[in-house]
Amino acid sequence: MKVHKHDAIIIGAGGAGLMAALYASKGGADVAVVSKLYPTRSHTGAAQGGIGAALGNLDEDKPIYHTYDTVKGGDYLTDQAAAKILAENAVDAVIELEHMGLPFDRTSEKRISQRRFGGHTSNFGEQLVRRACHAADRTGHMILQTLYQQCIKNEVKFFDEFQVIDMIVVDGVCAGVIAIELGSGDYHIFHGKASFFATGGWGRCWSVTSNAHALTGDGAAIALRRGVPLQDMEFFQFHPTGIYRMGILITEGVRGEGGVLINSQGERFMERYAPSAKDLASRDVVSRAIYLETRAGRSIKNRGYVHLDVRPQTVNRYFAEEGRDRADFIDDATVERKLPDILDFCRTYLGVDPVHEPMPVQPTAHYAMGGIPTNVEAQVIIDAAGTVMPGAYAAGETACVSVHGANRLGTNSLVDLVVFGRRGGMCIAEFVKGADWAALPNDAGAEIQAEFERIRGGSGKSRPGELRAKMQETMMDNVGVFRTEETMRQGLDDLAELRERFYRDLRIDDKSRVFNTDLMEAWELGCLLDLADVTARTALERKESRGAHSREDYQARDDENYLAHSLISHDGNLAEPSYAVNLDKKVDLSLWEAEVAQGLPEDQQKFRPKERVY
Ligand code: FUM
Repeated sequence: MKVHKHDAIIIGAGGAGLMAALYASKGGADVAVVSKLYPTRSHTGAAQGGIGAALGNLDEDKPIYHTYDTVKGGDYLTDQAAAKILAENAVDAVIELEHMGLPFDRTSEKRISQRRFGGHTSNFGEQLVRRACHAADRTGHMILQTLYQQCIKNEVKFFDEFQVIDMIVVDGVCAGVIAIELGSGDYHIFHGKASFFATGGWGRCWSVTSNAHALTGDGAAIALRRGVPLQDMEFFQFHPTGIYRMGILITEGVRGEGGVLINSQGERFMERYAPSAKDLASRDVVSRAIYLETRAGRSIKNRGYVHLDVRPQTVNRYFAEEGRDRADFIDDATVERKLPDILDFCRTYLGVDPVHEPMPVQPTAHYAMGGIPTNVEAQVIIDAAGTVMPGAYAAGETACVSVHGANRLGTNSLVDLVVFGRRGGMCIAEFVKGADWAALPNDAGAEIQAEFERIRGGSGKSRPGELRAKMQETMMDNVGVFRTEETMRQGLDDLAELRERFYRDLRIDDKSRVFNTDLMEAWELGCLLDLADVTARTALERKESRGAHSREDYQARDDENYLAHSLISHDGNLAEPSYAVNLDKKVDLSLWEAEVAQGLPEDQQKFRPKERVY
């Protein structure tokens, strides 16, 4: 195998990977980015509506309000010190992106424009605030382009279309990764002092998802198989507004601009579920409301979708009822200018023109709150005590720092990428200056190469596409927005049967080496099966409802027994793994503890876990 030696190996070229690469290289490290996609095709490009930062350009705002919303939105599972870092660092991260050339939309005073998003409030929940800094509905795309240009300028080396398939761990130290070059089928060793996982999420476990085909959770699955437990895997967010049946994201920015959700009775039903925040309640609340409307027979044509209406006449009617300033009223041109991509998606994929017709939407699997556990410097940790695995780093959706707790606020994914990508990059730059090179084992890569040859040789009856569709269906039906012990057990039984077929009866038609997508998709399916399994197992163990984890058999949040992070580990046996689940990793409640230490009475403690009201 060809060996490449670089101080830092960054796996994944989305926002977190590029930010880490940029900062590690600025700090003097020799950096290589290894990505299965061409960098500007990374999924960060699909983040539409904005990046949250308390700039206060249009409404009064402060990082402490952003911190509060992040903690409350996460249903108090959010680590409070991490949320504070996120909110405070968000402000200069956005200014830094602006200075790098990111073309944000502007206010009439030429400041960065901001829009409303779910759960963004000022003065500790008092009123909705415009915090999402946006570049039309292409904010993630613009971040990606901007950071890629900066990395090129900084001479970061890119290995595009190299898919990382294993991690090299020597005596508890991460010494690099193994990758397959898609264009040749050759295996490569990337030997690094630091390896940074920024491989994104695993929405492809579910049948209706906003996630691109590439979102197969490779980094998290690799880490899990190499002894890193995964944290809070039971929490997977469904975004309320995916295009009906396709799942493609329709940004929350539509509701931020005044769009409303309407059921088959023509009713703006969010007024009943969240009288104050209405359509801009947090995503878990809105997704559940759509399911409940469906169950009550009020979805459109009884088909499980509702309408998202951003037609100016509808929006302005509600604005008038709410007594909004006439300056906020919208017209066709506003919709065209502020939401060009979603108009394009709806016109192209549905033949629906949102300026004149409502859009059919349903909840879509969107974002993993859990993942590879890290500390706030993006160092991977391997137990509840926070023990660091030297040389291993992670940030972005594949990681769990944990700033999103049980439910992420809209726009905080982009903040997470840039804030913790940057911190990780800086930490790596310092680490590689002093660290020794871990020696590579003689058989580095042999095990994963044998696994690939097993897959390539598959001559059974089960094709990956069929197994994947079945996995996605059972996850959607049994481990989706609502869960019960019965549905999750059914999901686990189905997954066990699929795993059996994957390891004993797989069929691969394409035996070639060059751009063998059949082979790669099969291997990715193995990653998805592991991640689906750990999602269902941790969800079964958490006998409460919190954030995106909504159990019909345990409907209350139970802070006494479950205000803790879960960790699940895997014994490394691919075909017949055994798992250990623990729910004893402490949540950082330091902001609340500081309030108690100051002697604040209970009703003035902002960060005390309490019932969420919308
Ligand atoms: O609705 C959106 O634009 C999505 C943003 C996000 O997931 O943060």
